[in-house]
Amino acid sequence: MKAKQSSLAGCRILITAGPTREAIDPVRFISNRSSGKMGYAVARAAMEAKAQVCLVSGPVALESPDGVDRVNVESAKEMLQVVLDRVEDADVFIAAAAVADYVPKEVATHKIKKNDREMTLELTRAPDILATVGSLEGRPFCVGFAAETHELERFAVSKLERKNANMIAANKVGDGRAFDSDTNTLTVYWRGGSVKIMKDDKVIVAKKLIDLIADRYASYKKEYL
Ligand code: CTP
Repeated sequence: MKAKQSSLAGCRILITAGPTREAIDPVRFISNRSSGKMGYAVARAAMEAKAQVCLVSGPVALESPDGVDRVNVESAKEMLQVVLDRVEDADVFIAAAAVADYVPKEVATHKIKKNDREMTLELTRAPDILATVGSLEGRPFCVGFAAETHELERFAVSKLERKNANMIAANKVGDGRAFDSDTNTLTVYWRGGSVKIMKDDKVIVAKKLIDLIADRYASYKKEYL
């Protein structure tokens, strides 16, 4: 018997993954502990569902899944620019990157030299890529992630509204959970429902998440497209 085709077959999916790096001076930056493993596993699962995948990736030590169109970026600003350049061609946007929330207000042109005084680094807000895509007219179906140390449901549901996303995949972080780990547990929220994907290898969790996105996207298409 022929396997049922995923509603993502032939669908154009734009995915962000990995951390961003925000320069302080030519040799220093602010970043975070994201390994990119979850975003890359989602990209691989999307390829297996026969989607066309563009992966906008921060600096990670991972191989691209075969057939993926990968664009490397460093900062949140660069990531936003590449996403905006590509989003018109996307049916689904999955924001798996751990984008900086704050970036240095100024980047020093020369290496900053130490002295005997304390130093204060002035930070300014980084662009919110998911919220920017969520606010576009004719935007794609948007899926975000929420990494929380506490009150998972409340924060995830508020991100769904605030960023105008269709789905939020939430996971707990801290105490060795999620960041740089090979396993993950997700609770996925959308307006009117939620599903828990139990702890497993990120490859399996990503497959289950892609199946769920395929289901929700199929209902969304019926209703809105
Ligand atoms: N995100 C984004 N651009 C940012 C920050 C976050 O696109 N500048 C996306 C992430 O890729 C993720 C979602 O927004 O899909 C949630 O990110 P998270 O860092 O958990 O949330 P924040 O918006 O930073 O909210 P808070 O600081 O309240 O946790």
